Amino acid sequence: MRKESPVRWDEKRGAWDAFDYQSVKNVLENKDLFSSNRSRRQEGEQASPIELSLISIDPPKHTQMRSLVNKAFTPRVMKDWRPRIERIANQLLDEIQDPSEIDLVKQYSYPLPVMVIAEILGVPIKDQDKFKDWSDWVVAGPTDNSPEALKKLEENQQRTYYELYVYFKEIIAMKRQQPGEDIISVLIQAEMQGTTLTEDEIIGFCILLLVAGNETTTNLISNAYYCFTEFPEIYEEILKDPAGTLPLTVEEVLRYRSPVQSMSRVAKEDTVLNGAEIKAGNIVVAWMGAANRDEQQFENAHEFNIRRKPNPHLAFGKGIHFCLGAPLARLEAEIAMAEWIKRYPRFERSSGFSLEPIESTFVYGLKELKL
Ligand code: HEM
Repeated sequence: MRKESPVRWDEKRGAWDAFDYQSVKNVLENKDLFSSNRSRRQEGEQASPIELSLISIDPPKHTQMRSLVNKAFTPRVMKDWRPRIERIANQLLDEIQDPSEIDLVKQYSYPLPVMVIAEILGVPIKDQDKFKDWSDWVVAGPTDNSPEALKKLEENQQRTYYELYVYFKEIIAMKRQQPGEDIISVLIQAEMQGTTLTEDEIIGFCILLLVAGNETTTNLISNAYYCFTEFPEIYEEILKDPAGTLPLTVEEVLRYRSPVQSMSRVAKEDTVLNGAEIKAGNIVVAWMGAANRDEQQFENAHEFNIRRKPNPHLAFGKGIHFCLGAPLARLEAEIAMAEWIKRYPRFERSSGFSLEPIESTFVYGLKELKL
C-alpha cells in the first residue's frame, strides 16, 4: 500500500488513507488544511466530552486550552512523578504471587497506567476500582459489529460518561476546598486566575486523559515485552545496561510496534496530497503505524534496532496535537521495565496461549502476554 498507493480513496468507508511517512506527517502537521473536529453530530444532538476536548478542537481554542493544560505535563513536573510511578510499579510487582506464570498485561501493563492516572488526577484510593471500571468502558469496543452490540456499547458509554461527569464534578468541588498535588487542582487554579477553562472543560479534559492515556501506555509496555521475547539478543544488550538503553528501547518500540496506529482529520478545503485530489469535507486517516515502517524514512525499517538514531517516529503524532502525555508515557514505560528487570531479569514467553492482538485498527497491542 505504502509503495503502490501511498494515499488512496477507500470507497467502502468513504475516506482517504495516507500511508507514507511524508503524507502522514503533512496531514498531522498542517492544521490549516486538516481539522481535528471530526464530529458528525446533527444540530441539536449533544456532544460527547471527547468531542469538546483538546484532541477534537482547532485553533484558536486549541492553542488557549493547550497552553493551560501544558503546565501539568512539563518534563519538570514529570520528574516529580518518578518516585510515585516507581512506587506503583513496585506495588504491582509485590502483588505477583506466582512468578512461574505471569500475565504481563493483566497483572502489570494494564493496571499500571490506570493507577498512575488516578493518582495524577487525585482520585481517592478508595475509588480506584470504580475508576478502573469506568476507564474500561470509555475505551471499550463493541463485542461484534451487530446493531445490538453497537447500541449496547453506546448506552454503556453514555452511562459511563454521565457517571464520570457527576463524579468529577464532586471531585472538583472537593479540590476547590482542599487543593492537592494533582492536575485537577492545577487546572482549577488556572481557572481562578481568570483564564477560560470552564468546569465542563476540566471534566472533559479528565475524561480525555482516561481515554488517551491508559490503553495506549498499556500497549506500549506490552509491545516492549513482545519485542523482548521475539529478539532475545537485543534484550541481552538491554540487561547489560538498562539505564543507558531503556529510553532508546521505548522509542524503538513506539516506532516498531506503534500503540496508536492512526488518527483522522477532515480536509478544510480542496487540496492535493502526494498526487491525490482531496475535496473539502473528506476524511483523511493518517496511518502512523505504516509511516513508522516507511523505508524511505527509516533504514531497514522492518528491523527492531534500539540503536537507531535519529528515530523521528510519528507514534505520538506531530504538530499542535502532539501527544500531551508523551513525557509521562515515556517515563511510565521506562520505569515499568527498569523495576521489572530488577526482580525478573530472566523470563520467557509461556507456550500454550496465542498471541492475540486487540481487535482494533486504531490501537495495537496484545490481549494477554503470558511469561
Ligand atoms: C494526543 C499517542 C499516552 C494524553 C495524542 C496523539 C497521539 C497520541 C498519536 C495525537 C492525536 C492527534 O494528532 O489527533 C499516544 C501514545 C501514548 C499516549 C502512543 C502511549 C504510549 C498518553 C498519556 C496521556 C496522553 C499517558 C495523558 C495522561 C494525550 C492528550 C492528547 C494526546 C491529552 C491530545 C493533545 C492535543 O490534542 O493537543 N496521543 N498517547 N497520551 N495524548 Fe497521547
